[in-house]
Amino acid sequence: MGERKWRQAESLLQSMGTRLQEGMVPSKIFNDPEIFELEKERVFTKAWVFLGHESEIPNPGDYVVRYIVDDSFIVIRDEDSNIQVFFNSCSHRGMQICNVEMGNTSHFRCPYHGWTFKNNGKLVGIPFGNEVYGKDGLKKDQWGLRCAPKFDCYNGLIFACLDANAVSLDEYLGDFKWYLDIYLKKSEAGMEVIGAPQRWIVDADWKLGADNFIGDGYHTATSHRSTVDVGVLPVPGANFHKNGVQVYADPGGVGLITLPPQSFMGYPESIVESMKRSLKPEQFRLLSGEHFQNQYSLFQTHGGVFPNLSFLNAPGSIKPGGPPIPYLTIRIWNPIGPGKMEVWSWFLVEKDAPEWFKEASYRAYVLSFGSSGTLEQDDTENWRSITRVAKGTMAKNHFLNYQMGMATGMQPLSDWPGPGVAYPIAYIEANQRAFFAKWFQYMCQA
Ligand code: FES
Ligand SMILES: [Fe+2]
Repeated sequence: MGERKWRQAESLLQSMGTRLQEGMVPSKIFNDPEIFELEKERVFTKAWVFLGHESEIPNPGDYVVRYIVDDSFIVIRDEDSNIQVFFNSCSHRGMQICNVEMGNTSHFRCPYHGWTFKNNGKLVGIPFGNEVYGKDGLKKDQWGLRCAPKFDCYNGLIFACLDANAVSLDEYLGDFKWYLDIYLKKSEAGMEVIGAPQRWIVDADWKLGADNFIGDGYHTATSHRSTVDVGVLPVPGANFHKNGVQVYADPGGVGLITLPPQSFMGYPESIVESMKRSLKPEQFRLLSGEHFQNQYSLFQTHGGVFPNLSFLNAPGSIKPGGPPIPYLTIRIWNPIGPGKMEVWSWFLVEKDAPEWFKEASYRAYVLSFGSSGTLEQDDTENWRSITRVAKGTMAKNHFLNYQMGMATGMQPLSDWPGPGVAYPIAYIEANQRAFFAKWFQYMCQA
């Protein structure tokens, strides 16, 4: 029955195997109901998915509500300051127990029959309990809120996994932790999220966001050219994204873009000093440009972790022609239907940064990659278009080209200081090929 149920998706996957090795990806996977259902079952129930950042819930009782596809979770700091991830569903009859997106509470009281749970998930109150279940009739300790099968944190990032048999988060993130640290350990004080994440729904496949952030330096010269022309991006020319290094270290990849020496993208002196103490020397050498013999310095980095977490650390301008102000955004592309996703975008900043910088950095982010950001809108239109095309009949036999770097036989760097496979240019599609190979592997595991 299972196989018949997914017949079209399975045959699409079958046709994909060898083509993928040639750098070809079928258009149809970007808008197909069966592929979407299979992704729910084989990717999003198996992989670790990002839910939020510890700084969003700093105090006991603080919580936020987050999602893995359709499943809603309460991510909460309990009275003992432990982070918990509860399935947002009452253990009596399944009603959603928490109906607001964030807050602080000692208890959740179900609106249906009033079962009451402490913020550590324990069931503590049942209306008319003794009368309707008898004294000791219902074992309260067996009817607490259900936890996500697995959840854990890395450097402040909170993840959950729906597969109780999955590897640990530490093992899952593997070699990619080295790159995550570059984002998250820029200051000894750590990072904090400012404001609530922005959310918006886009008629586009979630994989297109992941594909773009993990490796698509190539689109910037065309898609974002106007932002360069009008001076809202502090770069000398539209091909600013070409030079750099692209690295894949399973389960994620980054593009590290270089430009002639800048001063740490515009980070304040105190943060640069903090970075120096917090990062490994070889990581700091990358940021400072020493690794590139001081001919270039790291200008911006973009990346992604399988399946749907992406990030971008880039400088923007607050006013046209103004100095660069760097910002860090983390986002997820949550699939909510075939060819449809909800984007969640967080802004993070170094906790010990000066107030003026936190404000300027937030503005630089909102102007470029918030929901109304200039670059965000450029990207969104591309992904909507690809998704719309992928829905049609012609798309059934249409394969897309992901061959950049294969034809030139480009070889990985032999002296790269970090883990993974690194190529000496940013215009290459090695990371996207690695992303789709991983997606394919998950999709083929019944
Ligand atoms: S469904 Fe929650 S108390 Fe009945
Ligand atoms: Fe873009």
